[in-house]
Amino acid sequence: MLDIPVDSWYEAVSLRHSQRKYSGEVPSDEVTARIDKVCNEFKPFPGARAVLVREPANDVFKGAVGQYFFKVTEAPYYIAFIANMNAPNIQAITGYLGEGVILEATALGLNTCWVGGFFRRESVMKQIDLQNDERVLAITPIGYSKEAADRVGVSSKQYRRKILDKLIVSGEVDDIKWAKSALEAAKIAPSAANRQPWRFQINDGSITVSSNSKREGFGVSRRLDCGIAMLHIELGALATGVNGNWEFLEFPDIAIYKVS
Ligand SMILES: Cc1cc2nc3c(=O)[nH]c(=O)nc-3n(C[C@H](O)[C@H](O)[C@H](O)COP(=O)(O)O)c2cc1C
Repeated sequence: MLDIPVDSWYEAVSLRHSQRKYSGEVPSDEVTARIDKVCNEFKPFPGARAVLVREPANDVFKGAVGQYFFKVTEAPYYIAFIANMNAPNIQAITGYLGEGVILEATALGLNTCWVGGFFRRESVMKQIDLQNDERVLAITPIGYSKEAADRVGVSSKQYRRKILDKLIVSGEVDDIKWAKSALEAAKIAPSAANRQPWRFQINDGSITVSSNSKREGFGVSRRLDCGIAMLHIELGALATGVNGNWEFLEFPDIAIYKVS
C-alpha cells in the first residue's frame, strides 16, 4: 500500500492539464517503473485498479469534435482505470484512484488526459484481462506533449473553472485555512467536458462533496468526477498539515471528509 506522497502530488494538482497530442517518445525505464509501481501499490479503497499498457494507443482513442474532445494521437502508452461494478461507491473510488495515478505521472513530467467517453473498449479489452464484474471506466494516454510549450512544468495554461462561490452550497471557508486550501485544489480538478459537477458543504471540521445532478452525460458518471475532486480536497488539506478520513454517502451526496 502506497502512502500519498503529499508534496509531489499537491504540486502536480496545479501542473496537470489535459494533453491530447503526443510526440510518440517512450518514457524511460525508470519513469515507466515508477508508473507501474503507483498502478500496483496505490489501493486507497477496494474495487478499482489501474493497469499500464505499454503499447501505442492510437487504435484505442476515437476521434470526436468539440471544445473538449479531440482525438488523442501518438501516445506511446496508456493506463486503463478498471472498476469492479459490484463494489460500493465504485465510480467515486475509480476517480480518486485514477487521479492519484495521473498526479504521479504529472509529477514525473508526463502529460495525461482522462478519457471516459471516446475510446474503444473492445480494443482495450484485447490488451488487458478483465474479471467478470470488471469494466474499464476510463483511460489516460501517457507520454510527452508534441508541443514543447504544452509539457508539464512548461505550460502555463489557465484553468477555465467556476469560482468557488458558485460551488459552495453552504458554509464558508474564508477563515478556515485547511478548507480553503482543500477547495482551491478541488476547484481545478478535471471533469468530463469540464462540467465541474461537484458542490461543497462546509461544516466545523468537515467538507461534504455532492453531485449537482443525478444524470450521467458523455457516458461518464458525475460520481467519477467527484471522486477526482475528493483526492484534490484531501491533498489540499494535507498540504496544510491537516489529516482526515472519508466516509461515503447516499447519492447525490458523494462523501464527507472529516478532519481527524
Ligand atoms: C472522467 C473524465 C472523462 C473525460 N473524458 C474525455 C474524453 O473522452 N475526451 C477528451 O478529449 N477529454 C476528456 N476529458 C478531459 C476534460 O475535457 C478536461 O479534464 C477538462 O476539459 C478540464 O481541462 P484540464 O484537464 O486541461 O484542466 C475527461 C475528463 C474526465 C475527468
